[in-house]
Amino acid sequence: MAHQPDPRLSIDLAGLKLKSPVILAAGTAGFSDELADVMDLAHIGAVVSKSITREPREGNKTWRILPAKSGMLNAIGLANPGIERFMIDIAPRLSATPTTVIGSIAGSSIEDYAEVARQMDTVDALPAVELNVSCPNVHGGTEFGVDPIALTELVSAARAELNSTKLFVKLSPIAVGQPSIVEVAQAAIEAGADALTIANTVPAMGIDVRTRRPVLSNVTGGLSGVAVHPIAVRLVHTVYQGVAKEAVVPIIGVGGVTDWDDAAELILAGASAFQIGSALFADPKIPARINKHLSRWLNTHRVESTKDLIGQIILPD
Ligand SMILES: Cc1cc2nc3c(=O)[nH]c(=O)nc-3n(C[C@H](O)[C@H](O)[C@H](O)COP(=O)(O)O)c2cc1C
Repeated sequence: MAHQPDPRLSIDLAGLKLKSPVILAAGTAGFSDELADVMDLAHIGAVVSKSITREPREGNKTWRILPAKSGMLNAIGLANPGIERFMIDIAPRLSATPTTVIGSIAGSSIEDYAEVARQMDTVDALPAVELNVSCPNVHGGTEFGVDPIALTELVSAARAELNSTKLFVKLSPIAVGQPSIVEVAQAAIEAGADALTIANTVPAMGIDVRTRRPVLSNVTGGLSGVAVHPIAVRLVHTVYQGVAKEAVVPIIGVGGVTDWDDAAELILAGASAFQIGSALFADPKIPARINKHLSRWLNTHRVESTKDLIGQIILPD
């Protein structure tokens, strides 16, 4: 029989019960069970499926994913088969996945997101969907994730299409100036987000100094991995203290988790659960190892469950 995670690690994300706070991040773990050959998915709280758009997308040309000294650079360009093929080819096999699957939605207009949400809501094996709001929107080329007004419209439109499906909103890390990420998070919560995922990759680029060309075909891309971890900790802390704690809206922290102490930092900053992305490419055993060490961490602090440590950072007076 497959070994199950310590029951003290189980968490409740706005009514969605997961057996572990470890979640595999969108775009790094296939659609559902593609990593089953290299890890026991029964240890995992959930897998977030690759983002799906209304129409199929080929994505950018190579190179679109490369190692960086401090993590990974990618500009995949949301390559995916589109919602129609997802419903025919992928949705029917989701229920066989030995863990919870969360859908992920991307788009370039409110109508696109709403249509994908409408179709995913009919899939019983998707108890929650995550809106990836870090894509350029049609009203002026900015991201929904940095514009509280556009985000309110987008989240409300998706919410209206969902019945029992939970709605998670994955915020952009670039809302660090004006408007602040707290304002963006507040807009998402007021428009009906059940949980917030914080955050996506950080805009970045690399140049090949021999050829003088950008390393990514798209010129710019997103940085993930160890370099973004302290950024994610700060964003989770800021949103937890600024709005989520009082609103009782759970946060899923994501960015540069490679070991249990990175995950523990996100929990202390205010995350109820966390996602692992880039690190999976290097070592698919990381999720099981993190589960094991988090159990020991609970023992060290003599607490009954992970929940007792959420947001429990000790701040200076
Ligand atoms: C190759 C690759 C593909 C990704 N694709 C998606 C995606 O389809 N949708 C999404 O919301 N995030 C996507 N992301 C972002 C990750 O889900 C995650 O937010 C980010 O990589 C930070 O976590 P990490 O440092 O653990 O990788 C992708 C990241 C990588 C590296």
